[in-house]
Amino acid sequence: MQNIISPSPLQKIEHPLLDLWQLTLFVKRDDLLHSEISGNKWRKLKYNLLEARSQQVDQILSFGGAYSNHIHALAAAGFHFGFKTAAIIRGESCYANNPTLKQAIAWGMELQFVSRLEYKQKAQTAYLQSLQSAYPNAFIVPEGGSNRFAIRGVMEAIQEIEQQAHRPVDHVITATGSGGTLTGLVAGIAQSQSQLKTQVTGIAVLKNAHYLNQEIASLLQQAKVNQNDNWCLQTEFHHGGYAKVPVELKHFCEQFSRQTGIPVEPIYTGKMFYGLFKLIEQGYFNRGENIVALHTGGLQGLNGLKERNQKHPSTQA
Ligand SMILES: Cc1ncc(COP(=O)(O)O)c(C=O)c1O
Repeated sequence: MQNIISPSPLQKIEHPLLDLWQLTLFVKRDDLLHSEISGNKWRKLKYNLLEARSQQVDQILSFGGAYSNHIHALAAAGFHFGFKTAAIIRGESCYANNPTLKQAIAWGMELQFVSRLEYKQKAQTAYLQSLQSAYPNAFIVPEGGSNRFAIRGVMEAIQEIEQQAHRPVDHVITATGSGGTLTGLVAGIAQSQSQLKTQVTGIAVLKNAHYLNQEIASLLQQAKVNQNDNWCLQTEFHHGGYAKVPVELKHFCEQFSRQTGIPVEPIYTGKMFYGLFKLIEQGYFNRGENIVALHTGGLQGLNGLKERNQKHPSTQA
């Protein structure tokens, strides 16, 4: 796969809080995997693209919201790897002018806007069958890309971390939306030859995300991973809900990027680092432990946030 930087760098971070608690923090810079198909999006798409190629289909169809990182990445992947792409988008056609979808269209993606009610059927068999009839030569990838091919791709991040860290890694931290990435990380640890004792902590970006515990447990079951005691979900760092950016989070993201030189956005990675730093302050980690935070990309979302804030300056998007 051309132009993919693999393995992505594992970067050690210096920060006074880490010194105070005698912790070592690395960031797995998956945001640098590719300029346009970055982060967990590349991990999740890689084996989907290979599967589509082996099935000799020429189109990939998926689902997403109007500012979706997954849709943006899929459109880029189609453009770079020679697939036609199509997407079912939740919401009105006026979103076609937002920075995410404008770019997706420029990469050749066909968009179909549907009501929120219709979008809810995105995983139902009858709906998928009707889409398959409408797009007979398309490989259909679920919302966010999360399927068994995605899990396989994310597992590779663990293999890379193992080779790059040169020490036992006690914790891996990731931002969590659907739980697909967290599942892949836990599956990667379960499969590792060196019987890793690594704990995976997900920082949920959605409000009221407790239901995800059940979803992740069943994703793990589907992936035939029995290990269920080495992961957890932290649900108190949502900052009011998906894409809500209160001032405290905004300031944290700006300061974090200034101090470390690592770009973050407040919807996923900013919330993850905020949650991670709060957990450090709460004594969640033992002194001397090694932590890896997975940078899951998503930086294209910053353009959409800017656009929403210009339109509605009083209500943070
Ligand atoms: C940048 C970014 N980070 C993290 C996530 C969360 O990944 P998952 O849905 O696999 O939990 C997403 C998902 O949409 C994302 O776009």
